Amino acid sequence: MRKKLRRYEGRGRRRGPGHPVEWILGLNQWYTTVVKESFVEIAGRPAELAFPSVVHDCFDPASGLMRVLVLSDIHSNWHALQAVAAAAGEVDACLCVGDIVDYGTEPGPCVDWIRRNADASVRGNHDHSVAQRVLPRSGAGLRRLAAATRPLHWELLDQSQRRFLTRLPTTTRVVLQNRTLFLVHATPRDPLDEYLVGDADAWRQRLNGIDAEFVCVGHSHVPFCLELGSQRILNPGSVGQPRDGDPRASFAVIEDGQVRLERVEYDIDATLQQMRETGVESWVVELSSALLRSGGRLSKDEMDAFR
Ligand SMILES: [Fe+2]
Repeated sequence: MRKKLRRYEGRGRRRGPGHPVEWILGLNQWYTTVVKESFVEIAGRPAELAFPSVVHDCFDPASGLMRVLVLSDIHSNWHALQAVAAAAGEVDACLCVGDIVDYGTEPGPCVDWIRRNADASVRGNHDHSVAQRVLPRSGAGLRRLAAATRPLHWELLDQSQRRFLTRLPTTTRVVLQNRTLFLVHATPRDPLDEYLVGDADAWRQRLNGIDAEFVCVGHSHVPFCLELGSQRILNPGSVGQPRDGDPRASFAVIEDGQVRLERVEYDIDATLQQMRETGVESWVVELSSALLRSGGRLSKDEMDAFR
């Protein structure tokens, strides 16, 4: 039976520091974030081997045609995410390919919505940096915007929301109605950081060993669907910060194997007003306004002019 995407219902109950369960979860978090990450670095193994894939099978064959919502790069833009959820309507499955947080100023509702609605989700580079409390090294371009809004995330996200980001896998496989989808934020070669848009030869090299009909990616904030033989690389574009010159929120729907890249208008003024109310510096709101209204079409120099 199809599910209706759920609305945000506020933060869940917390156990609070000192509770025995929190100690156990804390130890587990330390193992996941410190031991496993170090293992990847030391052993130099591909991350997909170090983080074993999880296989989901969440499609109910009784519902007929399969309708799957694919989202990426929400970037704490709650108004954009709500517009996408309304436009998508009822779906059989919801998949998220990372970067739920950073840049925007409303991370909590976005994280909670993904927790409640996504059947599978992977970690983006910004989810990783927020969860691991990493501040950007350079003070230019988009990194400067991330540096200005990331500390606010550490105040706004509660322990369980941060833990959710920490535990996101870098890759995962989803099986739906005998179709396999592989989810990774950037590329299978470099799950968090490599930028690759529509270069077919480069993608072919990165598909070695990936046995999936759909490879769902994000990171570039540019929507595309690239057919490579029996495989398709699908980037749904960015929900919360599009960079292809179209300011509307971007998402994809796979229906009975056919991909549709979709756009929906949302209330950019409301996003900026919420940002203003958090007390961030005025240049952060002005730069965000220029980015969101231009669909990300700003040069580094133009971004750095906002002071
Ligand atoms: Fe992103």
